[in-house]
Amino acid sequence: MLYNVDDRPVGIFDSGFGGLTVVKAIADLMPGEDLIYFGDSARYPYGPKPREEVLRYSLEICDFLIDSFDVKMIVVACNTASSFALDTIVEKYSLPIVGMIEPGAKSLVSAATSNRVGVIGTVGTISSGAYQEILTDIAPHLEVTCAATPGFVEFVERGELESDQLLVLAERLLRPILDGDVSSLLLGCTHYPFLARTISKVLGDGVTLISSAEETAFSVRQLLIEYLLVTSRTKGSFRAITSGDVEEFRRIGRSLLGLDFSTVTSHKVDR
Ligand code: DGL
Repeated sequence: MLYNVDDRPVGIFDSGFGGLTVVKAIADLMPGEDLIYFGDSARYPYGPKPREEVLRYSLEICDFLIDSFDVKMIVVACNTASSFALDTIVEKYSLPIVGMIEPGAKSLVSAATSNRVGVIGTVGTISSGAYQEILTDIAPHLEVTCAATPGFVEFVERGELESDQLLVLAERLLRPILDGDVSSLLLGCTHYPFLARTISKVLGDGVTLISSAEETAFSVRQLLIEYLLVTSRTKGSFRAITSGDVEEFRRIGRSLLGLDFSTVTSHKVDR
């Protein structure tokens, strides 16, 4: 049997804390892998920004992860960056790349309990049409209601996961999802699983909330196996880097996820 290993780290990035939901799923599934996470807190939110800007940020971050850490794979743990930049990233770099849209769509299709499903995401993700397009391709029988939920990301970045203001905003932005009478809702932004309690308070028990973090972790594992890149270690490490304030990243990151945030370092970016 051909047996190859590669102990280099896996690089993962997002605009801030959202991609940590994906980090957690990867760490649970592949505890031996070293994970390097870049949270672009200085430039969040990506959702309202034009495509060119998100593309530029994404390419800068990929260069940084490759040049500074020699990562063996990149996980674009951001739906907005995946919608706007994944094709270019795949074309430009010769290492395996995993984005969020395909795992997200697959998670939704396999969890759907009726023909009516929903997707929420940032303005960028929803207006790009990425989910609408892939769902039409892989599950044309589904009736998909999409809604952008601007403002959700900012609550997560402040570490504010439940509050009256958030509830009022959620009641307003999730109206189209309620009107669409959906049975399953894909949280099409990696920040949103942190808001699951509030979202489900608004939508009620009849709507199943779906995060794509686990499916993304399975895609990562499949590609690592396929490219003979699985580590030989049994226990990996986690290291976070932020373009924002290190202390705040450590404090909020720990409160959100409980991962070991002892190694958070800073990397400055141009705005
Ligand atoms: N968590 C990201 C996403 O999945 C980005 C959110 C943002 O910065 O607006 O879309």
